[in-house]
Amino acid sequence: MPTPKPPSGPDLHEAAQVLENKLPWIPEMMVVLGSGLGGLGSALQESLEVPFSKIPGLPEAGVAGHQGSFRAGLLKGRRVLLQAGRFHLYEGHPPGVVATPVRVASQLGIERLILTNAAGGINRRFRPGSIMLIDDHLNFMWSSPLSGPVQDGEERFPDMSTPYDPAYQRLALEVAVEQEMELERGIYAGVLGPNYETPTEIRMLETLGADAVGMSTVPEVIVARAQGMRVLAFSLITNHAAGISPTPLSHEDVLAAGREAGPRLESLIRKVVERLD
Ligand code: HPA
Repeated sequence: MPTPKPPSGPDLHEAAQVLENKLPWIPEMMVVLGSGLGGLGSALQESLEVPFSKIPGLPEAGVAGHQGSFRAGLLKGRRVLLQAGRFHLYEGHPPGVVATPVRVASQLGIERLILTNAAGGINRRFRPGSIMLIDDHLNFMWSSPLSGPVQDGEERFPDMSTPYDPAYQRLALEVAVEQEMELERGIYAGVLGPNYETPTEIRMLETLGADAVGMSTVPEVIVARAQGMRVLAFSLITNHAAGISPTPLSHEDVLAAGREAGPRLESLIRKVVERLD
């Protein structure tokens, strides 16, 4: 009996073509907006929106607080594609689908990626509202978006020794100093979710070096690096992680903290976008 072929995934070329036909230009970069970080969308000039449902191969994003579309427009004069809403593993999407928007962006010729997420703070110095520049990550999602056939433009065994671009990080730190904004740095642990962690799981992640924990970003970064994209990522700390938090965690509180601190991160990103190489 022949071994069954694994599914080859969506037709990225077709998806990118559909998106390109709707855009006035090829974007210079993509920015992925995490929970409660939708404010950048309203800062876009001459913007237009393309719902995920119009792109072949993309299901509709389905978490409260996530919209599910690409928005293209000018931000500080730069041609930016925003990804508003993302796919999570905990929704049951295969790992490859979670990273499909990044693959589509790369297929479109985009080489720069800025990711944001909401995360629980493990580092005792972090408070709800802290912003963390991601230095590195731990993949606790027990899967890789690269499993299966090698996709267009991807390496089979991509190097991950500098997943987050050092020059982009220096720029973000410089901008934070100029804006007199506190910017933390640390390690992001990506977990499957959707339940929040137990206090013991948080102690384990802390022992392993994690400063923050969340349920996204890692698959997108892996694919971006496999595609040769340069990556910058930030976590908005929305809560103390389980066991550190004095109260139970709730998605509503995470969204509310995101809404409150979001504008600070958005202002940092606007300045970074303006000067990104
Ligand atoms: N754990 C996992 N994901 C999260 C958290 C958390 O505490 N807060 C926001 N996203």
